[in-house]
Amino acid sequence: MNTDVIYSPKVIVESNSADASSRVASMFANSIQANPQLTLGLATGGTPVDVYRDWVSRHRQSQLSFAGVTTFNLDEYIGLDRDHPQSFRSFMEGQLFRHVDIDDSRTHFPSVDRDYDSAIRLAGGIDLQLLGIGTNGHIAFNEPGSPIDSLTREVELTPDTIAANSRYFGAADLVPRTAISMGIGSILAARQIVLLATGESKAKAVSHSLGSPPCASCPASLLQYHPLVTFVLDAEAGSMLAGN
Ligand code: PGA
Repeated sequence: MNTDVIYSPKVIVESNSADASSRVASMFANSIQANPQLTLGLATGGTPVDVYRDWVSRHRQSQLSFAGVTTFNLDEYIGLDRDHPQSFRSFMEGQLFRHVDIDDSRTHFPSVDRDYDSAIRLAGGIDLQLLGIGTNGHIAFNEPGSPIDSLTREVELTPDTIAANSRYFGAADLVPRTAISMGIGSILAARQIVLLATGESKAKAVSHSLGSPPCASCPASLLQYHPLVTFVLDAEAGSMLAGN
């Protein structure tokens, strides 16, 4: 990774989260239409739900096909079966895969027994990566302090992240303590990156990511080392940016 050059991510601020999600959904849909064999990097969590809903709706209207698309998800919990309702595989099945014409064998999740970065390279690399951002600036499960050249690896979740994700499990005790996550280096290897952030809780992390020099203490700020990054925000997530 060349850290001599710092880029300014493009920033798009929409007035509300529905518009921000639909902007992101359109960016991806246009790219898939231009190249039906696209390889996507996909994210889980609350943020992308409306993006996936939009793609399902376009698919139902015969406007979007995933038949030639390959996907690599960012992360997966360790210790949950793939069919566990809170596994990220189950999330993706429920939100997207089950409702569109994607080939199951082209959908990938990291696991402890595979070299995920080699699998991504063998598939030709990720063309377009969708990201969310944690309130602590994490991207995927790359918590503050994650090295810029980190690859897919086992990671420990921070108390912040466990607390944030406990809403899906009903109690913090039930949230796995470890996960396997693409690294910062894995993410920066994508050809193009789109980060979607909505809601006031993300405002501080967003402003730190865009307004401070890149630093491992805010993993999303390291995206400034990539030449083709777009942050799509709603007004609340963009509320702490200079000029807002
Ligand atoms: P969220 O999570 O979309 O559920 O807010 C984003 C993240 O933690 O990366």
